[in-house]
Amino acid sequence: MENNYHVPVLLKECIEGLAINPSGVYVDVTFGGGGHSREILKHLGKDGVLIAFDQDPDAQRNKIDDPRFHFVDQNFSFLKNNLRLLGIKQVDGILADLGVSSHQFNEPERGFSIRFDADLDMRMDKQRALTAAIVLNTYSEENLHKIFGLYGEVQNAKSLARTIATARLDTPIQTLEGFKKVITAHIPRGKENKYMAQVFQALRIEVNAEIEVLERFLEQTADVLKQGGRLVVMSYHSLEDRPVKNFLAKGKFRGEVEKDFFGNDQKPFKVITRKAIVADVEELARNSRSRSAKLRIGERL
Ligand SMILES: C[S@@+](CC[C@H](N)C(=O)[O-])C[C@H]1O[C@@H](n2cnc3c(N)ncnc32)[C@H](O)[C@@H]1O
Repeated sequence: MENNYHVPVLLKECIEGLAINPSGVYVDVTFGGGGHSREILKHLGKDGVLIAFDQDPDAQRNKIDDPRFHFVDQNFSFLKNNLRLLGIKQVDGILADLGVSSHQFNEPERGFSIRFDADLDMRMDKQRALTAAIVLNTYSEENLHKIFGLYGEVQNAKSLARTIATARLDTPIQTLEGFKKVITAHIPRGKENKYMAQVFQALRIEVNAEIEVLERFLEQTADVLKQGGRLVVMSYHSLEDRPVKNFLAKGKFRGEVEKDFFGNDQKPFKVITRKAIVADVEELARNSRSRSAKLRIGERL
């Protein structure tokens, strides 16, 4: 693996959370640089199996040469079908380390970072058609308003959307620098990076349908995990953490837990982490990416 592809976050905590059975079947749905996968393999015996998913073809360069390892080049929202194709009905543990890898973030042409002037792309799966530039140039003003408000918690989302909708009538918005010029009046002085990060977060979530695929994935975990199997999910912002927390606690994303005829809770998971696990000072000092990480663990009932 390339040294700087990605440094795994909360590695020890994720492995402990999975409570690995050496002969079990495990799934790492966000393979990336393979840091977590390599550690899982160390805890598996010769009969153990690890299936890893990543929708970014770049991650394939990190594939692990090990007979117990299988790579699936798909979105994790197709978890259940892909496992079925491999002849696997149930698994012992699932790990998800959400969001983008450092590699994706550090490659200028991927368009994920506000540090480089590049085309506004932001696709994790380069085969998908929708890019950030297409969102900015074709979505209605109302839709842009919703995306910036909901996914970026951008304060002046409405006027930002209006400015974009007006500017693109003249010239399509293609690059970061072009985009910055268009919205410069909206960027608060002294808070440029924070503001642009929020705007970029909103676009990235939309381009990759991140909340939708996360919800579809979480629902499938309840179907494929064995009783006692562990679900370990690490998220990096509240829009991801909220569905994870709700799903583990209530088996759904909105509303209260369902009850059966006798008034018993109907939910698929026991929550192992009442409070999310976060990085300690040593890890924070070593790896700035761990700053916003929140780890939640559930056990299939
Ligand atoms: C934070 S990185 C994972 C890093 C990994 N745990 C490691 O130690 O190197 C997230 C990875 O998951 C992939 N990914 C994100 N969302 C995905 C999805 N819906 N389906 C498949 N892969 C996804 C990204 O392409 C990226 O490579």
